Amino acid sequence: MDRTFVMIKPDGVQRGIIGAVISRLEAKGLKLVAANLTMISEEKVMEHYAEHVAKPFFPSLKEYIMSGPVVAMVWEGKGSVAIVRKLVGATNPADAAPGTIRGDMAMETGKNVIHASDSDESAAREIAIHFANAEFVAYARLD
Ligand code: CMP
Repeated sequence: MDRTFVMIKPDGVQRGIIGAVISRLEAKGLKLVAANLTMISEEKVMEHYAEHVAKPFFPSLKEYIMSGPVVAMVWEGKGSVAIVRKLVGATNPADAAPGTIRGDMAMETGKNVIHASDSDESAAREIAIHFANAEFVAYARLD
């Protein structure tokens, strides 16, 4: 089954909107199969954001991601990568459509509440950075 990596960033945790974000993913029909409230290590930030390390905004991105706890999660469902990206909305909240998580709950690119994998390849890579196989749960749905 398709899986995607999702992270509620420190601004989302501090603002008390973990539940609101998770509710949207649950309401859509996605299944939460791993979750961890954690301070993300420098090593993991460097790995996770490897493609952005040389960009001018990287120092502030790194400081922000390490500034407080994040909720790292894996969500499962057919086509989950594309579905979650649609629910999350554009990177810049000013461009994110109303009804999306960033469109409804964020104001600036530097504090945009949530990260979601942008492809199946990114999802596999990011899941491997943040979770060990033993951290996944399996459960039957009632449908
Ligand atoms: P995310 O989806 O986690 O992927 C890369 C992150 O880098 C992005 O969300 C933003 O938080 C951050 N980012 C991207 N572009 C910029 C920018 N121009 N200035 C600051 N942060 C950025």
